[in-house]
Amino acid sequence: MSILENKIREYRHLFEEHSSKIKEKREVEELRQLFFGRKKGLLTLLFEELKTLPPEEKKAAGRALNEFKEEIQQQLVQLELKAKTVRPQEKIAEDLTLPGWKPYWGAPHPLTLFQLAIEKIFVSMGFTVEDGPEIETDYYNFEALNFPPHHPARDSWDTLYINDKLLLRTHTSPVQIRVMEKKKPPIRIIIPGKVFRRETADPTHLPMFYQVEGLVVDRGITFAHLKGTLEYFIKALFGEKIKLRFRPSFFPFTEPSAEVDIECIVCHGQDPACRVCGGSGWKEILGAGMVDPQVFKNVNIDPEKYSGWAFGLGIDRTAMFAYQIPEIRYFYENDLRFLRQFNRK
Ligand code: PHE
Repeated sequence: MSILENKIREYRHLFEEHSSKIKEKREVEELRQLFFGRKKGLLTLLFEELKTLPPEEKKAAGRALNEFKEEIQQQLVQLELKAKTVRPQEKIAEDLTLPGWKPYWGAPHPLTLFQLAIEKIFVSMGFTVEDGPEIETDYYNFEALNFPPHHPARDSWDTLYINDKLLLRTHTSPVQIRVMEKKKPPIRIIIPGKVFRRETADPTHLPMFYQVEGLVVDRGITFAHLKGTLEYFIKALFGEKIKLRFRPSFFPFTEPSAEVDIECIVCHGQDPACRVCGGSGWKEILGAGMVDPQVFKNVNIDPEKYSGWAFGLGIDRTAMFAYQIPEIRYFYENDLRFLRQFNRK
């Protein structure tokens, strides 16, 4: 066997040894250089050597060398393919600069967050948070609150009745009665919760929504306390600059009664076509008043000794206003694109 053929055998061995260890594309390239490098490549040198052989040996050696060259080229292609299929995955796993995948953990509903913000303000003023049943009797929802049976004032609360005796509470006010039956003054409470009315769903109405009730009963409580507390609360919620106004109103269970409007935070009364306030510059958010003496009598609290005030605020509509949400139904559709906007950490 010629010297050249010996070398081919030796190099084939060398190639196998190298190729068996290859993992990365870079190593395939190194092996290619080892054999085909322009000046010192082993095969390049063999072809140089071929030129120096005597003509009778050249033919056979040339054929063997060309076969070997093709063999190595094919194997390099295979090695390259293998290294390529492994590499892209490795690359992603190794790239520490890529942002990580963050699992979404879930978070409180925007209305829950808003309710908690309200609770926090009142708790800081010494109020406690109370709770009551959503299915009520006519007595607690109406009668004890000074609505006589069949009184027309009941019509302002479109009631969902379960049967003759039970209904879905139309406001959180019945919990005032339940608390006053059990606790004696001083009382300083808020009552957040669901209420129900026979409403057709539209952008600002749903048959279920949230209210928060407030109740204060003690000796010497006046309308000034009501005004001061509500002003403090609304400023804590909307900022110092917000303006509010009290308008006279009527509720059977408070006397005198008021409705409270806050200044439109969208147009500040400047846009007659404002979509949020309808151009009035004001938005009603709650009803309030001094507890009617008859209500105190119904729960055996002496109205000669004690006085108090109450309010009821719509949580949904206030949250809509605060976040400028045009549709109450967004809160209940559970569209994560909507809900996640309130939980940026
Ligand atoms: N319960 C009344 C309503 O739902 C609001 C209110 C509460 C008014 C307490 C006065 C006092 O409209």
